[in-house]
Amino acid sequence: MNKEIVLTGIKPTGKVHVGNYIAAIKPALQIAIVSDCTALYFIADYHGLTFIQDKEEYNHLSYGIAATWLAMGLDPERVIFYRQSDVPEIFELNWILSCLTPKGLMNRAHAYKAILDKNEQLGVDMDSGVNMGLYTYPILMAADILLFQSDKVPVGKDQIQHVEIARDIAEGFNRNFGDTFKLPKYVVDEYTAVIPGLDGRKMSKSYNNTIPLFESTEDLKKLINKMKTDSTPPNEPRDPDTSNVFLLYKEFATPEQIQELRNKYLNGISWGEAKQELFQVMNDYLEEPRKKYNELMGEPEQIDHILFEGAKKARAMAAPILEKVKTKIGRYR
Ligand code: ADP
Ligand code: TRP
Repeated sequence: MNKEIVLTGIKPTGKVHVGNYIAAIKPALQIAIVSDCTALYFIADYHGLTFIQDKEEYNHLSYGIAATWLAMGLDPERVIFYRQSDVPEIFELNWILSCLTPKGLMNRAHAYKAILDKNEQLGVDMDSGVNMGLYTYPILMAADILLFQSDKVPVGKDQIQHVEIARDIAEGFNRNFGDTFKLPKYVVDEYTAVIPGLDGRKMSKSYNNTIPLFESTEDLKKLINKMKTDSTPPNEPRDPDTSNVFLLYKEFATPEQIQELRNKYLNGISWGEAKQELFQVMNDYLEEPRKKYNELMGEPEQIDHILFEGAKKARAMAAPILEKVKTKIGRYR
């Protein structure tokens, strides 16, 4: 029987933060380890280009994402790990799908609509700051997904609509040209659906409230100390289940440590101490990966090598599917 295909990508548009790790990277790594699937994880660098148009920054962020996956334990023998821009088949399919996608479907995409709303509020031209790549972003994402006949796409909540659009595009193609694409399903880890940032809102680089995954020990400590907490006085019991400090703690601690801190909360630990405990487990957890990350960032050739090997495997999988698509649309005699 064919193995299930699990695929996901992350666009390099900022430093990888704890929210990205907990909601996107950690569950994806877990799936690759525990389930008998074919996992394809990639750096969505051409999606990143819709936002990052500075040579140094683009380059640094792309390698940064690759180094993060590897430092957090991605095994390239087990996962097909590649850079989107090394797989030209994706961009050929992107064009074919573009021609079959109604413009109205893009008009309804949340990310685009959010920019229109913002422009309206600011009273500037509604298309201000919108490039065509951004506008058709969901079609490229559909190409990423459909080209590999993906069954499952692990993503954060904000990406659900994009996976649904990929499904719509696949259905449209299948209706027109006969059964070709599998219909992908998103996988969202409900429990960690939204990781809060320093100010309590969703952790996001757009809000400038993130804890980057590979900060130095000192900066990590400073950031954790900045986390917003309520004004429960010291020595009063506090509810671990409504505490953002506890929420993050649970992601990095052992079950015994979690139980211990839970008890301390009920006995009235101060926020300062709770933050110190969070810092300790996070720092321990991230110490080795941080070393590996810095090592890899100092040897980008090693990253290139891994990504090229991954791209070879990805292209070998993609080629027959693209041929099938081209046959269906009438490209061949
Ligand atoms: P950001 O919001 O910082 O720009 P991205 O949009 O690049 O992050 O997100 C990359 C991945 O991480 C996506 O799958 C997204 O859903 C997930 N993600 C980002 N921030 C969070 C968060 N605070 N909680 C849950 N998931 C998140
Ligand atoms: N749009 C996704 C994000 O912003 C990144 C992405 C690009 C992706 N192509 C994908 C995710 C395909 C899953 C599958 O996070």
